[in-house]
Amino acid sequence: MRVDSISGTNHMSNARMQVPLLDLRQQLSQIREPLRIAIDEVVDSTRYIGGPKVEELEQAIAGYVGSRHAIGVSSGTDALLVSLTALGVGPGDLVLTTPYSFFATIGTISRLGATAVFVDIDPATYNLDPYQLRQWFDKNSADAGRVKAIVPVHLFGQCADMVPLLDLAQARGIPVVEDAAQAIGASYDWNGERRHAGAMGTIGCYSFFPSKNLGAMGDGGMVVTDDAQLAERVRCLRNHGAHPKHRHALVGGNFRLDPLQAAILRVKLDHLEEWHSERQANAAYYDEHLRLPGITTPSPRGERRDHVYNQYVISVSSDRDGLRSWLTTSGIGTEVYYPVPAHLQPCFASLGYTEGCFPHSEYAAEHSLALPIYPELTTEMQDYVVERLTERLTGQAPASPAETV
Ligand SMILES: Cc1ncc(COP(=O)(O)O)c(C=O)c1O
Repeated sequence: MRVDSISGTNHMSNARMQVPLLDLRQQLSQIREPLRIAIDEVVDSTRYIGGPKVEELEQAIAGYVGSRHAIGVSSGTDALLVSLTALGVGPGDLVLTTPYSFFATIGTISRLGATAVFVDIDPATYNLDPYQLRQWFDKNSADAGRVKAIVPVHLFGQCADMVPLLDLAQARGIPVVEDAAQAIGASYDWNGERRHAGAMGTIGCYSFFPSKNLGAMGDGGMVVTDDAQLAERVRCLRNHGAHPKHRHALVGGNFRLDPLQAAILRVKLDHLEEWHSERQANAAYYDEHLRLPGITTPSPRGERRDHVYNQYVISVSSDRDGLRSWLTTSGIGTEVYYPVPAHLQPCFASLGYTEGCFPHSEYAAEHSLALPIYPELTTEMQDYVVERLTERLTGQAPASPAETV
């Protein structure tokens, strides 16, 4: 249920309202009691590695996203690492992905000794553009045989355009690893059928970093797949590659999900759809009220329910950083996701990319700004964000701003 005001909180200072980018205290107050019970159960069980809490969450996530197998792991980064390892990605291989993502997407490819090859984003959605992907194959037929995986990212909570992407991958027999770290619960219209982010490709990866829509109280992640053999390899890799105990056909690591985190996540999972709806309502409110010169609001592909708005990212045509400072001074939290695209990161200089290689990603890095979108944001808080943006961008207060001081 959308809240119109929160009494007893300290968002309103004498001078101005405070609107943080994320405030997990509001969520905590809704579920504190079931969380306490779930945590106590783990504590009292003395089962602190693996066990029924992890298995229960794995089954619940598999059911929720429509995947046959789910394997809890230690983080979204490790979900990517074990998925790519399970697919045999290693030195000499190429992995196609987007340069506009959180570092882990590309870092894990590089850590395995493979070469990340970038394809630019669709500027409307910030996601890997399947048409440019096709062009890459058309122009690089000599290298196509070395492509060991394609890694689309469902950035900010919206699915990449998976039908053309998977058509292309399947025609070439290339596995697709979905980086769904930010998009658990996002759905995609698959020729009339609704499919979940992470459950469309060969293998999918989720992050439970606390700021994600389904966030742990620490680190956590999950791998999903319909492929039983791949699932078995991931299960094995997350525990040093041991199967059975002390027998190692594979070299894995300690990539296990903690049962305390699993128990917490299981409680939160029951609220996830409601939290998505609240994020979507908040996004719709911004869309309606932020028709302002100099900014563009996000462009959800297809129906609104596709997008679960882990982030609500606007594009600011000029002086993004000036606008950001103005909002900070006004007590409004924002973030830049991501200020430097991967192809311009110093650690990837050896890949040989330069400025201008991926203009859409570079533009996004320079112009995008995330606004507060979390489920418990009140209308009053959103009105304040709208008011401050309107004042900065038009020099006027909006027609019907909330009283904020
Ligand atoms: C797109 C993307 N990929 C991977 C990750 C890595 O997840 P984690 O922080 O759980 O390791 C994140 C998390 O921030 C992410 O946003």
